[in-house]
Amino acid sequence: MAASCRVAVCGATGAVGNQMIQCLEERDFPVSEIRLLASERSRGRSLKFKGQEVPVQVIGKGSFEGMDIALFSAGGGTSKQWAPQAWAEGAVVVDNSSAWRMDPQVPLVVPECNPEDIARYKNKGIIANPNCSTIQMVVVLKPLHLAAGLKRVVVTTFQAVSGTGQKAIFELQNQLKAIHEGNQPENKVYPHQIALNLFPHIGPFTDNGYTEEEMKMVNETRKILHEDGILVSATCSRVPVYYSHSEALNLAFERKLTAKEARDILAKAPLVKVVDEPATNQYPTPLMAAHQDYTLVGRIREDISQANGIDLWLVADNIRKGAATNAVQIAEILLRDYL
Ligand code: A2P
Repeated sequence: MAASCRVAVCGATGAVGNQMIQCLEERDFPVSEIRLLASERSRGRSLKFKGQEVPVQVIGKGSFEGMDIALFSAGGGTSKQWAPQAWAEGAVVVDNSSAWRMDPQVPLVVPECNPEDIARYKNKGIIANPNCSTIQMVVVLKPLHLAAGLKRVVVTTFQAVSGTGQKAIFELQNQLKAIHEGNQPENKVYPHQIALNLFPHIGPFTDNGYTEEEMKMVNETRKILHEDGILVSATCSRVPVYYSHSEALNLAFERKLTAKEARDILAKAPLVKVVDEPATNQYPTPLMAAHQDYTLVGRIREDISQANGIDLWLVADNIRKGAATNAVQIAEILLRDYL
């Protein structure tokens, strides 16, 4: 790895941006200088990095000058506007928004699946970090696909509010407090109350009846696995959980895979942990997966309704492996192999 690196974090005050800062610190990423960027709303704020208070700067022209890598998690509009500027000013962008993911010029990378795609970063100076639900799904799909040839995925997600950002974490907290105090909970972030509720609606609805979040899982999975023929159908729901997305997967393969074979393959997969002891109630839960980087997988069983099918359940921390950790892992490879 290069000796050191100057890193900008754009969206530093947000849920994912904050976690990016923590990941850089935890993983001992060799940061020689850090620049924290956010919007006008954060003027005057500072955040801690390695025990030091670092002032937050308002993003603007010149914000990326002198930086080697810029980690972005400030929404698609900000990425569209500022990522090309960052590259023009000399920083390679690792972007957590959906703005660039399906651009054929931009690599979309999960280090456990397609690290080789990082080599194409110079096309636009941008590497896209996939959608949180896609990342945790493909780390499990890839090794199974290599073993038995994946044909079709039917996935239902149960997604934590932190995926919507800090404001949604506050909304769930405030609604729970209101309910316990006997008051009417207010919903500003979501179209429905999320506390003690759930709804099958993440992102805008599209013309085919699926939501944008669901279509991200379809298109991003194919791009990451380099397999346009894999069929994916997703239903994404929001649940009153702070951290970690859960997913129920029904998989169809070219060849027969027993539950034991699937378990053995996943036990060896990088950043995957099998938690699958039904007799002692051991299966992944959001609380178990939160605040660490493994995708936990359990309830692995042969599908009784088709010849070569497997059902399973997986859970991962959407802010960490689903966003910040994956971005920092990409930055590590970029620094080690390319910069
Ligand atoms: P700010 O806190 O100044 O609004 P979250 O996903 O948790 O809501 O966080 C979004 C992050 O993106 C925050 O750090 C937010 O900064 C930042 N952000 C949002 N809009 C902009 C913008 N137009 N320019 C720069 N940063 C932005």
